[in-house]
Amino acid sequence: MQISHNEVENYLESIQPKLSETHQRLENFALKTDFPVVGKVVGNFLSQLVLLTNSKLIFEVGSGFGYSAFWFARNLPENGKIICTDLNPKYKEMATESFLEEGISEKIEFCVGNGLTILEEQTEKFDLILLDCDKYLYPKALPIAKEKLKLGGLLVTDNILRVKKKKVPQKINPYLETYRKMLLESEEFHTTILPLKDGIGLSYKIK
Ligand SMILES: C[S@@+](CC[C@H](N)C(=O)[O-])C[C@H]1O[C@@H](n2cnc3c(N)ncnc32)[C@H](O)[C@@H]1O
Repeated sequence: MQISHNEVENYLESIQPKLSETHQRLENFALKTDFPVVGKVVGNFLSQLVLLTNSKLIFEVGSGFGYSAFWFARNLPENGKIICTDLNPKYKEMATESFLEEGISEKIEFCVGNGLTILEEQTEKFDLILLDCDKYLYPKALPIAKEKLKLGGLLVTDNILRVKKKKVPQKINPYLETYRKMLLESEEFHTTILPLKDGIGLSYKIK
């Protein structure tokens, strides 16, 4: 699925704000290892969403080694917090080291395990939830995210239109289709799909 013209993608990529040395190092690592971070264009948008939604409490389902959390942290107020989750303990190590180096570790808690289970266990409700874990989990994640978002909170879904990795797309597409249908038919969310990179879902919790 072609979402936007390469020229447009390259232009957008070229106009994004400069990253700190640590954040850039994470991006370089992602490029080198072909790890699917959100990238600069979506990252900068996530950062702006913190301002637009006045978010103080953010939950990430699928944080990798903290690249997207770095973007959230840019505009998070001093008393703000991001709960990161990932299945891989090595990513927690990498992320923790980088957050420390950047001086943002007091804003971030990193839990290793199934992000959906960890989200279900949370007692607080969130201003913003980023869904970026294994895509077959998206339909299962929706009711959990709905329950754990504040009224007026925002569910942000990465890869809502496609997954670019060569090996998985055919298997994943039905899950993404089901998920989009669930969201677009839901009376509890107002959803917009933005054709940024692999598609970003913005779902505002109305009730
Ligand atoms: C696309 S990457 C996340 C990238 C990250 N959001 C970023 O842009 O920096 C997906 C991550 O989700 C993790 N993951 C997959 N299923 C998960 C689950 N059920 N709970 C937590 N993490 C999961 C994978 O280990 C992988 O690191």
